[in-house]
Amino acid sequence: MNLLKEKGIPIENQLKTWHDIVKRPYSRACEDNYTRVRQILMNGIETEAWGFKHCWVRKTDDNELKKVLVNIRRIEDMQQTTVNWLSPVNQTILDTTLGYEQVAVDLTAWLSQNEDDPYVKETFDFGLLEDFDHLYRYSQFANLVEETDPNEILHNNTDVLIGRPTQFHHNCNGLRIRKAYDKNTASPKTKVNILTLISGEQQTHNYYAEHGFMYGNTDLKRLYAEICDVEEEHVTMYETLVDPNETPFEKWLVHEFTEACCYHNCYKDETHPRIKLIWEELFQMELGHLQEAAKMFEKYEKKDPESVIGNQAVYPCTFKSQKEYVKEILMKETNKRVDKDGTYNTVDKLSPEWRSYLIQEKVNSKGAPSEQAINLSCCAIGRDIAIADEELLNSEDKLLKKSLQQSYNAPNTIQTEEYKQFNKLNADKYLY
Ligand SMILES: [Fe+2]
Ligand SMILES: [Fe+2]
Ligand SMILES: [Fe+2]
Ligand SMILES: [Fe+2]
Repeated sequence: MNLLKEKGIPIENQLKTWHDIVKRPYSRACEDNYTRVRQILMNGIETEAWGFKHCWVRKTDDNELKKVLVNIRRIEDMQQTTVNWLSPVNQTILDTTLGYEQVAVDLTAWLSQNEDDPYVKETFDFGLLEDFDHLYRYSQFANLVEETDPNEILHNNTDVLIGRPTQFHHNCNGLRIRKAYDKNTASPKTKVNILTLISGEQQTHNYYAEHGFMYGNTDLKRLYAEICDVEEEHVTMYETLVDPNETPFEKWLVHEFTEACCYHNCYKDETHPRIKLIWEELFQMELGHLQEAAKMFEKYEKKDPESVIGNQAVYPCTFKSQKEYVKEILMKETNKRVDKDGTYNTVDKLSPEWRSYLIQEKVNSKGAPSEQAINLSCCAIGRDIAIADEELLNSEDKLLKKSLQQSYNAPNTIQTEEYKQFNKLNADKYLY
């Protein structure tokens, strides 16, 4: 389908009543966990659509353009309210957090397998193992603080296990920057894949920044602070993949195209009949936005919008269990680190002067909250909360051994010997 040829709902017909903006939420125990996952991602997509137009309006003195942007931006804002407020009121902050990390893991795994640019794919795989580890750290607190079995949220579709340990995600600012694609040769799919992930990571960062303090538990607050900083790094890592020479009009086209593709993808896959209708309507609205963006692009840049976004819809957010793919990357890449000029290296090949050591020595010098999460779990139940097949559960000590650093590990790092002990205690016993 060529989305540029679809008319959708014209922008002048998109203003709604408050009754229509606020819809009934899905239920915490939703039949399909990917209903929640789609809702979390689309909230991030709308927030990005809104924020992008604010940044642009602040920088242009073209009043005609401003009016169009302000008009569509208001609709993006109302869409964001509709989507975000589909969250059920009895879904706790930690429940939602597990949902956010499930989005990150299963989305990144999907995008990586559908990405043609090898460097972009490598960067996706790199980020994948970090969000996978976040899910594991938060799961300890979901059990400790709220007695939640992570599968109440994850529905057995995503494993809970050590990844690249979070204490090693903190990099020197200069090293966070990746190599940008060239807008003239990058495929529309690459552009959409990256923008989808930037939006998801930015939303995750904002959620942790705005909710981490809402628990009366200092260790958990510190874990939110630690992972919030990693999500800030993830936004940097993915946004620097984008060609900085794209014009604002090109970026606008990619934004509306991404929104429309994501809603179309959600509509196609949704199993919840009422939510499916919401995705359909929002898709039709985005087609209206895309028409406006295309019209303005033709007027201001005198070029064909297809030169930027092609003539085919893409599917940037097909959600399904990615356990097999994650396992493959997990077995290969927990020892990977980002090195000079956006290149990657393994821990054993890093120079002793690797600049991220200095950052980690500083931020982790009084202990890493992500290690404290496991320490607390050990005190409470004698082991970590881990959910995976037998082979993976028995690999925890080897996975850790591979990713430990020669030059610096946080003083409260859980050692491989302790992970070996975990294997002897049945993980299921503590959850059922
Ligand atoms: Fe939107
Ligand atoms: Fe994460
Ligand atoms: Fe992330
Ligand atoms: Fe839009």
